[in-house]
Amino acid sequence: GTDAEVTIWEVGPRDGLQNEAGVIPTATKVEFVQRLVAAGLPIVEATSFVHPKWVPQLADAADLLTALAADDALGETARDLPVLVPNERGLDRAIELGCRHVAIFASATETFARRNLNRSFEDQFAMFAPTVTRAREAGMRVRGYLSMCFGDPWEGEVPLRQVVESGVRLLELGCDQLSLGDTIGVGTPGHVRALLAAYADAGVGTDQLALHFHDTYGQALTNTYAALEAGARTFDASAGGLGGCPYAESATGNLATEDLVWMLEGLGVRTGVDLDALITTSAWMAGELGRPSASRVVRARG
Ligand code: HMG
Ligand code: MG
Repeated sequence: GTDAEVTIWEVGPRDGLQNEAGVIPTATKVEFVQRLVAAGLPIVEATSFVHPKWVPQLADAADLLTALAADDALGETARDLPVLVPNERGLDRAIELGCRHVAIFASATETFARRNLNRSFEDQFAMFAPTVTRAREAGMRVRGYLSMCFGDPWEGEVPLRQVVESGVRLLELGCDQLSLGDTIGVGTPGHVRALLAAYADAGVGTDQLALHFHDTYGQALTNTYAALEAGARTFDASAGGLGGCPYAESATGNLATEDLVWMLEGLGVRTGVDLDALITTSAWMAGELGRPSASRVVRARG
């Protein structure tokens, strides 16, 4: 059934902002994270410890986390906000800041591994293996993202078997959760059902999975519903529908968190999120960014 609790993994401050061209002041990012946490989102991905030349917008990751750790309302919990780390250098930076939850990010395809990570498909695993091992030894939680699970802008269709094998390798490295990314938003509900069934056949149940939908083709919410029906309980979403990946052609924003909460509330699924506070936050952020929110709920109510 669809009445069990759902966990929303908020990626607005990271996936949402990484693609923004204009410089966003660190203080605005701090306030964004604070307000998302205050709105009841249980997991708020804060930033990335990637190379600052690759993603200039998140070059202030250390300053952001330092400011969040100094915030009285967050206190110790600031250390539980997940951060992206592609390699050991990123992990070192996260450890220095006292982070307890990191995410590596892999590609299911050769082309995107090279474009996003400057590594071949095979070499990305060599980069992640010591990163995950050391993070686990340090007592951290480690999420594994897998991109291009539903299609790749350069390679086209991506076989289910390739997506499953790549994801299983991330779990075998020691990731405690696997987030399946529709990076360019081309997936449809039938494809979602087929991929989750293929994972189940490989022994990976929905308890180990999260779904990460971008809304390029307007399917993100429908795909979420298909995954919910198939038993998935963790969904990534971005406040206001912000987002996109700078290294993936034609990627637009993530599933909007407000639209997800609206649907789940309608289904009687508790999320713990204060929808009004979230809408107010996204309307404020839209003002900061100087353009209307992509979220239908924010537009209707904001
Ligand atoms: P590289 O150039 O191959 O790095 O980039 P390298 O290992 O050759 O090192 C070169 C220099 O960079 C060295 O410095 C390193 O120390 C430094 P030097 O010795 O020359 O002075 N360096 C770093 N500095 C700071 N932080 C680091 C770091 N690593 C190396 N972490 C690298 C390889 C992986 C670093 C680069 O390709 C990179 O940063 N990529 C990140 C791209 C990215 O952030 N993309 C967006 C996130 S993924 C996404 O959005 C998809 C997702 O949402 C799911 C979905 O939608 O599908 C997650
Ligand atoms: Mg993404």
